[in-house]
Amino acid sequence: MPEAYHIPVLGAQVLSTLLVELHGTYLDGTLGGGGHAQLFLNKLKKDAVYIGMDRDSEAIAYCRQRLSRFKNIVYHQGTFDEFETALRIAGVRVLDGLFLDLGVSGHQIDDGNRGFAYRPGLILDMRMNQNDSQTVRDILNGYDESELIRVFKQYGEERYARNIARRIVKERQNHVLTRSDDLLDIINRSVPGKTVIKSYARIFQALRIELNNELNLLQKTLIRSVPYLKPGGRVGIISYHSGEDRIVKSFFREQENPCTCPPDIPYCSCGKKPVMRRLKPHLIVPDDEEVRQNPRSRSAKYRVGEKI
Ligand SMILES: C[S@@+](CC[C@H](N)C(=O)[O-])C[C@H]1O[C@@H](n2cnc3c(N)ncnc32)[C@H](O)[C@@H]1O
Repeated sequence: MPEAYHIPVLGAQVLSTLLVELHGTYLDGTLGGGGHAQLFLNKLKKDAVYIGMDRDSEAIAYCRQRLSRFKNIVYHQGTFDEFETALRIAGVRVLDGLFLDLGVSGHQIDDGNRGFAYRPGLILDMRMNQNDSQTVRDILNGYDESELIRVFKQYGEERYARNIARRIVKERQNHVLTRSDDLLDIINRSVPGKTVIKSYARIFQALRIELNNELNLLQKTLIRSVPYLKPGGRVGIISYHSGEDRIVKSFFREQENPCTCPPDIPYCSCGKKPVMRRLKPHLIVPDDEEVRQNPRSRSAKYRVGEKI
């Protein structure tokens, strides 16, 4: 039953790179089905602390049951950029590790009521936190054409963004767009048949990222986490989207080389010293066997940095 909720991606690699202190303090900002959490908790000593956050109350409730035998996990429902509140409540000041496994869980995609999947017969929703007031219906029926184009291009890199946005605006003059069928039908009529499945994936993903403000929260959290890391403490991020990976990659690069001096001057005058180093290899991806066993892992990219 636990595996049905979500299969953890790159489990062995995450443990071997992030578990630096068995008595340490860890923050998991994306608890999901608790798959990675369980791997950590199985290894951590009783005096270690594992803070598990998720913005989805269903994920927290599920993990409370699944992980009930572990007494050193502290739960906090909220977005991971609120991690300082979670640390304060848990009485934690410094971290040995921060882990984020971005995006949505298998359970969220599979649960038709959540409206994440691009299959017919679902109500369009896509809220990661079901208490949020806005759903993806508000975006589809409320954004003007140029905003829709921006979302589809920026977060979906969708070639037919203009066609799709134009048709959405036209279609919603006839009726409010509420169901996945409405959106699938619009995409079908806006892109050439050959590429339509890819467009479904890109458009649904772009709307999800916009609605849940995913990239802004990631950026904010990474930057704010650095002062909380102990020397030798690590940050490990699994991303599934090129926009996420760009943020993670440039964050680690800037922490490793914050110098802002022009490259042609012989010595550094800005005085900015490296704060983190990137672990090698700089990029870890699932091997063929993992992708075969868990096709949802195929786009995963994992990067790790260590506080100096
Ligand atoms: C890929 S799943 C994590 C799976 C987990 N590592 C496991 O092994 O079961 C991503 C989870 O992160 C949550 N999430 C995504 N963005 C979040 C954010 N900004 N703050 C808190 N939780 C977030 C989602 O609700 C989802 O449950």
